[in-house]
Amino acid sequence: MTSELLIDTDACYRQMEEKAHAYFETLSEQLREKTYINQLTNDIHLWKKNHVHSFPSLFFNRKRERYSRDYHRYIKYLHHTGKLENYLDRSISYIYMRDLGKALDSTKTQNRIQKSVNQLKNHLVNSLTETKMESYNLAGLFRWSQNEGVESSFIWLTDKLKTVRDQIPEGLNSDEAQRKLIKIIVGVVMHVLEEMDDEISPKDKSVRLDEAIRLGYSYGLTYPFIDDLLDSNILSPNEKIRYTNLIRSALTTGVVPDLDDWSGENKEFIQFVHAELRDAFEYIKSHQRLETTEVFYKDSYVFFQSQEVDRNKSMENQKLTNEEIYIPVILKSAASRLIVRSIISAPEDEGFESRTFYYGLYNQLADDFADMFEDEKTGSVTPYTYYLKYYRTRGDLINPFELYWTVISFLIHEVYQSDPKTCEVILNRAINGLKRFKRKWGTQKYEEIMGILTSEIQSFNGLIQKMVKKADDVDFFDKLLRDHMINHFRKERKEREDFIEMTRSIREKINNCLQLKSHKQVFLSNDHILDAVNYSLGDGGKRLRPIITWMMAVHCYHMDEADIFPLLRSLEYLHTASLIFDDLPSQDNASLRRGKQTLHEVYNVATAELSGLFLTQKAVEEQTTLQRFNSEKVLEMIHYSSGVITDMCRGQAMDLEEKDKISLEQLNKMCFYKTGIGFEASLIMPAILAGVDEEEKKALKKFAYHTGIAFQVKDDLLDHQGNTISLGKPTNLDVKNNKSTFVTVLGKEEAKRAMWEHYCLGLDALQEIPGNKAFLKHFLSYVVNRDN
Ligand code: IPE
Ligand code: IPE
Ligand code: MG
Ligand code: MG
Ligand code: MG
Repeated sequence: MTSELLIDTDACYRQMEEKAHAYFETLSEQLREKTYINQLTNDIHLWKKNHVHSFPSLFFNRKRERYSRDYHRYIKYLHHTGKLENYLDRSISYIYMRDLGKALDSTKTQNRIQKSVNQLKNHLVNSLTETKMESYNLAGLFRWSQNEGVESSFIWLTDKLKTVRDQIPEGLNSDEAQRKLIKIIVGVVMHVLEEMDDEISPKDKSVRLDEAIRLGYSYGLTYPFIDDLLDSNILSPNEKIRYTNLIRSALTTGVVPDLDDWSGENKEFIQFVHAELRDAFEYIKSHQRLETTEVFYKDSYVFFQSQEVDRNKSMENQKLTNEEIYIPVILKSAASRLIVRSIISAPEDEGFESRTFYYGLYNQLADDFADMFEDEKTGSVTPYTYYLKYYRTRGDLINPFELYWTVISFLIHEVYQSDPKTCEVILNRAINGLKRFKRKWGTQKYEEIMGILTSEIQSFNGLIQKMVKKADDVDFFDKLLRDHMINHFRKERKEREDFIEMTRSIREKINNCLQLKSHKQVFLSNDHILDAVNYSLGDGGKRLRPIITWMMAVHCYHMDEADIFPLLRSLEYLHTASLIFDDLPSQDNASLRRGKQTLHEVYNVATAELSGLFLTQKAVEEQTTLQRFNSEKVLEMIHYSSGVITDMCRGQAMDLEEKDKISLEQLNKMCFYKTGIGFEASLIMPAILAGVDEEEKKALKKFAYHTGIAFQVKDDLLDHQGNTISLGKPTNLDVKNNKSTFVTVLGKEEAKRAMWEHYCLGLDALQEIPGNKAFLKHFLSYVVNRDN
């Protein structure tokens, strides 16, 4: 496809480059003259009055040190020592400066900051008193999105993030990708909130928030899928060139080229990335205002091109000039922030642009400092890694640590006109960066690296190191949140993997105990019905109900595994029977189940009907063999389970009757009876045997109710948009059968909303169940995230 060039991208790039050159010249000059040292020495002497106390409390410091790694404890500590407000104030001020490009001396900005500090403080203090602090993130976000009227954006985003997670190949860090995406989205949302005035109607606010979330995602995708992907070794050199050209072409013509024939092992992944980036690009494009379109293309191109130039520096090149090192760094760090405003089509703001342009380098140097050892390992060229490799032989190289302090001084005095608050916040951040580095790598390594980086500024460094040792109250909320998020993702991933492994191993045990053996007294030469039943019980089922029972019985109620096999069998027999009936021509008329032909098709309807009855009875028989349990309890359980079967029949009957649109209430009721009750049974049957009290049973039932309905909604969604191969059963059967399901009655979007609602209510119910509920929590998220 041929398209006109939209703007003269090369000219734009050159223009920005010139600006970067001028900036770099100014900084080099100040670095050479060492003028920044005097200024900063004065600043630090003033600054330390608030940060270095003559009688540092060792006790408090140790306590703080211990708590600082635990998000909730640390917030609690800050609250109790009266430090929370100050902490949030410097953190939010910093974010206003860095992410929103604001100047802290404006009254309007100060008021905004104060308001945000109060809101965040209230939120944090309230969450401290709630019992449900951990693991509430997704549900909490869903609730927030409901309040703001952006549920559908929330659902859209969780789907998107899941797809990204599923599609990211080994060579890219999927936790990192998710974290970056979320960070970018939050940044864009903040920008949009900042641009709104207080009088905006809730309706308009939700429209703008929805856009912000989608724009944030669309832009955020470029981090994992352009920058990280090109940094990684996933693509071959040729593929990288092809991919880069594709993106350049999109940015210069405004049209994403087709992928044509991409072959090889990356084909599928590239197809996914291409489709996703194309959608993202189209979305951003369609939300551009005419006046801002040009700026958007310019910023995007400069962002892309500077990263490209930066990436193509080689560590082996011994002759990189200071300009070659720093100009792309200045450009990419500035462009990555400037672009956010053009993405949201915000009106031009001179102050924002110049502040942001100068600010980027500071941030980049701080990041490169923090990551220098990781970057060394991966061979990335940054000002630090390059300097460390060549400083002995290249006396002309600019020392990035000296440049870092030069930038700080330039920002404080020239960009922010010596504003005291700005000075305070930037120095906090700088000293905190060194403290974090020292804590991460240990004193020895820290001192070693400082020895190399500060040999020319020894006395100034003496002052800095004193601050690193003694200064207090320099840490930031966004860093705490970052660490918390990384830990949280890691923990979730580990738990998810454990959950999968655990269910896999329980499933294996269950699979090994299901098959029925021929009875001695069978007088017929072949036991037809037994073969039929065993066919249905064969591989392919997920065995979710007996898996839950196993977990409850063995882990929560400490029963002996060997004692509960009859119970496990009984649950799976009941469930399999229900599927045999459900698939009959008189009901759903399905020809595929668990990846195989349905029973009535392999045998015949009569055999299938008899097999269903056979299994239902077998289930009761199994229950009567639970000899190791109190017989009264067993009787109570059989009574309960007979009720379950009758309820399931009621549910199926409703399902077959309801051809017209029914109310949400009826839908819930029908799904609870046909599906929820089966999950309830898998929780309540072991609970009856364990003799738990009514209160606990009530909580379990509540959890089962919401989980069961969420399960059925997901089943309906999968019928609508799933894949027959992975599901092992037909799709689009509900519409064909003119069924009343969550999807056919409410539509796909509303069905998803209902599913998330039940997910949240299920999590709420979990809080009322005593003991360790991690398994049930994972089960619930599996239910809403599953693909089969
Ligand atoms: C399918 O249940 C029937 C519904 C309640 C929607 P499962 O999805 O648990 O089916 P299997 O046992 O894994 O085949
Ligand atoms: C069936 O619901 C519920 C049962 C308990 C059998 P569906 O009819 O939607 O189940 P699938 O999709 O056939 O598994
Ligand atoms: Mg059905
Ligand atoms: Mg069915
Ligand atoms: Mg179904």
